[in-house]
Amino acid sequence: MSEIGVFEFRGERYEFPVEIGSENEIAIDIKKLRGSTGGIITLDSGFKNTGSCKSAITFLDGEKGILRYRGYGLEDLAANSSFLEVAYLVIFGELPKKMELERFENTIKSHTMLNEEMKDILDGFPKNAHPMGILSSLTGALTAFNPHSVDVNDEEQMYQAICKTMAKIPVIASWAHSKNLGKPMNYAHNDFDYIENILQMLFTKRNERYKINPIITNALDQLLILHTDHEQNCSTSTVRIVGSSHAGLFASISAGVSALWGPLHGGANQAVIEMLENIIADGGDVEKYIAKAKDKKDSFRLMGFGHRVYKNFDPRARIIKSAADELLQDLDMDDPVLAVAKHLEEVALNDAYFVERKLYPNVDFYSGIIYRALGIPTEMFTVMFAIGRLPGWIAQWREMRLNNEPIGRPRQLYIGENQREFKPVEKR
Ligand code: ACO
Repeated sequence: MSEIGVFEFRGERYEFPVEIGSENEIAIDIKKLRGSTGGIITLDSGFKNTGSCKSAITFLDGEKGILRYRGYGLEDLAANSSFLEVAYLVIFGELPKKMELERFENTIKSHTMLNEEMKDILDGFPKNAHPMGILSSLTGALTAFNPHSVDVNDEEQMYQAICKTMAKIPVIASWAHSKNLGKPMNYAHNDFDYIENILQMLFTKRNERYKINPIITNALDQLLILHTDHEQNCSTSTVRIVGSSHAGLFASISAGVSALWGPLHGGANQAVIEMLENIIADGGDVEKYIAKAKDKKDSFRLMGFGHRVYKNFDPRARIIKSAADELLQDLDMDDPVLAVAKHLEEVALNDAYFVERKLYPNVDFYSGIIYRALGIPTEMFTVMFAIGRLPGWIAQWREMRLNNEPIGRPRQLYIGENQREFKPVEKR
């Protein structure tokens, strides 16, 4: 007999079906709660206990520190795969065969041009506009140049839309960077692969050819793999909920970029480096900042620490920490920020406040150190995160549409005034 969840209230008993996931996660299906109880709803701000969908893309066990894309361990993929392979896996469900990977790469290459009128939109931004604002706006603007909505059940249309999105976002990202620097806009070049193109678009100068450094290319490839998907986080849930109204892929992803920007989410990678630089500028007193983070009267939080679902080491942080070490060694660089980060981590992990609350370094704690070593400026860190998260957003949007999910529309508990009579202004 299948299990049921029971809810008793005011002497009445209600039964709800229980669903078991493929990793034995248990969910009580409360779809009929409101209807069968005459209006009772659940209240769960921040969705700490609420599953918004069934998904076959990413498995995450925050207690054990496990992260898998489509059943493959993150460590395995980071060590053996490429970002485009992982993107294909996450979006389409299986690792690509050689021919499939070649077609994916070539189709992406065929879509990397942007309409020149996009430059007119970019011209309207002030030079110091944050690149995340530009990325979000120009991604939304792509809808104007691609006005026809995609038939999600038409495989070829969907495939082309996916490749277009994968192709154009890195170009926009590089334009956002060029805008800040006052440099001419670069384009992708078909002689380069996906990762090389991201780097050459960011760094090519008009008067010289970009020289590939495999150490840098491999480091970025690995970093983007680690960011590819993370199930129902804030930006992904945003993409799904916007897409649930049948808004298009570009519009949904533009909303996802905005959600990612906040310092409690993807914006933390910029905030971490700024925090570490502040600590150094302030004399390097790590304990002082730990004390500030613990002080409930102080709004300061240790950026890059803590996570909604990980109550153990974020597996991505482990990989990134050793990748940062290796990269600095390979490039023969010494970054004082890494030393402060390690010291801060060590003190926090031995401090009762962080231990009791199970606060560990998250993906953003060390990623900025890698971006710095690659020569990427701080304001671009979250943009790089967005490029990495793109396949995840696409995969989740596609899954949501193919599963025909209903429009996302939460309920609320109203705590405002009861009905009042309108008083004309002279009687108030
Ligand atoms: N520094 C100090 N205290 C913290 C921190 C932190 N970084 N994170 C959580 N806490 C404390 C909270 O004050 C709270 O303490 P209390 O129980 O005494 O009130 C407790 O730990 C639980 O924290 P919540 O805010 O309830 O946890 P929540 O799951 O809502 O938030 C979040 C998770 C937003 C990631 C939080 O840990 C945080 O703000 N971290 C810093 C920002 C950051 O690194 N964000 C990136 C996350 S990864 C990503 O999005 C890609």
